[in-house]
Amino acid sequence: MFENATFCVTTFGCQMNKHDSERIAGLLESLGASPVETVEEADFAIYMTCCVRERADERLMGTVRSMKNIPVRPGSPYCKRYVAIGGCIGQRDGDGLFGKLPNVDVVFGTHNMEDLPPLLQEAVEEGRQRARIADGRAEFHDELPEDREHPWAAWLPITVGCNNFCTYCVVPYVRGREISRPIEEIEQAAREYVAQGVKEITLLGQNVNSYGRDLYGRPRFADVLDVVSASGVDRIRFATSHPKDLTDEVIERFGTLGNLMPALHLPVQSASNRVLEAMHRSYTVEHYRELVAKLRAVRPDIALSTDIIVGFPGETEQDFRATYDLVKEVGYNQVFTFIYSKRAGTPAAEMEDDTPREVIQERFDCLVDLVQESAYDRNQTEMGKVLPVLIDAPSKRGEDLMMGKAPRNQTVHVPIPAGCSLEDYLGRIVDARIEESRRWYLRGVLVDGR
Ligand code: 5AD
Ligand code: SF4
Repeated sequence: MFENATFCVTTFGCQMNKHDSERIAGLLESLGASPVETVEEADFAIYMTCCVRERADERLMGTVRSMKNIPVRPGSPYCKRYVAIGGCIGQRDGDGLFGKLPNVDVVFGTHNMEDLPPLLQEAVEEGRQRARIADGRAEFHDELPEDREHPWAAWLPITVGCNNFCTYCVVPYVRGREISRPIEEIEQAAREYVAQGVKEITLLGQNVNSYGRDLYGRPRFADVLDVVSASGVDRIRFATSHPKDLTDEVIERFGTLGNLMPALHLPVQSASNRVLEAMHRSYTVEHYRELVAKLRAVRPDIALSTDIIVGFPGETEQDFRATYDLVKEVGYNQVFTFIYSKRAGTPAAEMEDDTPREVIQERFDCLVDLVQESAYDRNQTEMGKVLPVLIDAPSKRGEDLMMGKAPRNQTVHVPIPAGCSLEDYLGRIVDARIEESRRWYLRGVLVDGR
């Protein structure tokens, strides 16, 4: 039924959703459907959704409602466009979404990706809305085909779910309990990726540092890093790390594994111990500082990034100042700042929250200014250095430029040499000497002109 059909997958949210979208695309392609870039060209519009913050919810609702006005694509074998919602909102709301969004045909949960084709088929053949949501799984599951965005970069999930229950966060409720993928499977997947020419593997999990806790504590995340490193892949990254579970053995790997990139996302959320306790983060700011010091001792050039929530219920000016001061002190390469968003069903939604909206906005703006300064200062330290850049796209800054990522995750723009095309470079790691450094990007020239 999918042979002459087209589909478009739109992804909201985190890297796990991006990976899931690649698997959805792989699955539909294996059944004969063709991927297209825009919803206008698609018979099936599939949305992989996020519900971590309210804004993501609102965005989805707006986008899907406005789809009613987009005509069926010319040449479509169907009399209408079918809309399917997966990811975290699908998991959370199930068939309740049909009431909010009557033009949705299929809802599928985070553990129901392989159910999407039969659900679409039933929606087409029976002309009725279909939903399937599983409660969770006892075992890790990742065997669908995938259509990766870039052949040279792969996401490799090592855990799914989260057991931490930070009081603001809905993830444990929608993604379920944490399950670790067997290390043999991870090793095999890494080796297969390398054989296929993958240059960069990003290990994924809500909290990769607690890998193995459900496997009687062994193997641990450091062991996973070792086997993935031994696959010989050029670059390894991972996300996300919970500070309470970042062990000395993992920190030490930043000094010993040559292909582990010197970049770490270590969400602090707040630097007030009172707020951290209310968030149920299970570490103190002193412990966090200690981690930063240990990381820098092992890998002085490591790029640190973090997440900060501004305006958690009861956050005082003094609490916010502590966070501001920590951001200044650490000198992050990147900080993702979020205004606290109340999520139904989480403990924080019941906490008293009397800080005026304008005050929270002021704190947020003040932090964003600091973050921009800090990113600028960090990038200045790259001037004149030669950095290996994995070229992954045309540059948005000029037709004769291409861009890619340096080890510390900065975007680097470099000229495409005369007589060459972007295609000659995509997926290659080239050496670039940095000649210009801005807040959010670097500009370089190819060493030896190649
Ligand atoms: N409000 C604001 N930010 C949140 N995050 C998670 N839940 C919320 C919420 N309710 C942020 C945290 C987390 C990141 C992925 O999203 O900073 O690390
Ligand atoms: Fe949410 Fe906390 Fe789990 Fe991260 S560690 S997914 S913030 S509950």
